[in-house]
Amino acid sequence: MAAQFGTYQSEIYLQGLAGAVPPFTTDPTALEASAREVLEPGPFGYVAGGAGAGATMRANRDAFDRWRIVPRMLADATDRDLRATVLGTELAAPVLLAPIGVQSIVHEDGELATAAAAAELGMPIVLSTASSYSIEEVAEASGDGERWYQLYWPNDDDVTVSILERAKRSGFTALVVTLDTWTLAWRPQDLDQSYLPFIRGVGTAIPFSDPAFRALLAQSPEEDRNSAVLRWVQMFTGVDKSWDRLAFLREHWDGPIVLKGVLHPDDARLAVDAGMDGIVVSNHGGRQVDGAVAALDALPAIAEAVGDRVDVLFDSGVRTGADVIKAISLGAKAVLLGRPWVYGLAHGGREGVRHVLRSVLADLDLTLGLSGNRSLADLGRHTLMEKP
Ligand SMILES: Cc1cc2nc3c(=O)[nH]c(=O)nc-3n(C[C@H](O)[C@H](O)[C@H](O)COP(=O)(O)O)c2cc1C
Repeated sequence: MAAQFGTYQSEIYLQGLAGAVPPFTTDPTALEASAREVLEPGPFGYVAGGAGAGATMRANRDAFDRWRIVPRMLADATDRDLRATVLGTELAAPVLLAPIGVQSIVHEDGELATAAAAAELGMPIVLSTASSYSIEEVAEASGDGERWYQLYWPNDDDVTVSILERAKRSGFTALVVTLDTWTLAWRPQDLDQSYLPFIRGVGTAIPFSDPAFRALLAQSPEEDRNSAVLRWVQMFTGVDKSWDRLAFLREHWDGPIVLKGVLHPDDARLAVDAGMDGIVVSNHGGRQVDGAVAALDALPAIAEAVGDRVDVLFDSGVRTGADVIKAISLGAKAVLLGRPWVYGLAHGGREGVRHVLRSVLADLDLTLGLSGNRSLADLGRHTLMEKP
């Protein structure tokens, strides 16, 4: 039977009879302000901030606001099924955890807490190359949970192959290649505080535990951290690659490959031509190109161009169950949730991530039913109306 995520609502109300309230807010619009209270300014700015004037972040939210769900009544939507099949794998709900680097800046348990919470709920994680823990440590925390690996593509083929082999050995099934962050954007919140986690040696656990990377160093990262950090920063930023290089990844990864950061239908077509299995329509949560197209505005044309040939996933601006419904109605198979659960991690480690994920899934389940839909197959353009 399909999971009934909406039961988190009754659980909260019933616990209220004993005087308990949720550990922190269930309001997705209040999470950021609430996280500001528990985080130092550096880490908070790193998570909440974006590129330039923040125009892309605002555009992401505005785009969701321009679409409205049109509920249908007496639709027999009591029992709902949120299952989705992505890259041939059945998920309990169409929501994955977006790759988020340097999680230990918001909570010491970082990626380990996130992996454990996601596995418990049957949701896939996408482990960032900028993880604070090694591939093997996160795999252990994830147990039999579904896990994908996100590659920031190093400018060194031996290191790339070594990292891919470790990911494969550790049970990561799909490879997500992030294309939009080959160098960091102008990010005023971080610049004003001179705060960049990598420079401080945070989010470097994967290269620092990699034999091919370590072999390139005169001294180990334990002996000379600054030189190792510098070497890594030069290796994972600063060089833009080209479409023909994807053949190299195909050669060294035998599972599905997903390209993250696609915003133009022609790039989506190039991904298909390159034999990719999926794409993530994403502007990196407004952290890379200021003044960029909202990811949701880019979605319909991309889904129309390639949606029958690759799995089209979506992120950037998803906050509520309604947002998930809108993205799926506009052509996504599933969405990646980003900042909200990072704020949950900041509030309470594994329990905090769990609370946010359960809240979003409950909201999704209830909103799906209340709008007269029983499954994702019921959703489409007919579900929505543009803001008058
Ligand atoms: C703090 C932070 C760190 C991130 N780190 C990565 C990363 O390491 N790799 C990656 O592909 N995307 C990274 N992203 C982008 C997310 O995967 C995702 O595209 C973005 O969070 C979506 O926007 P939203 O959170 O506003 O919905 C990061 C985002 C944030 C907020």
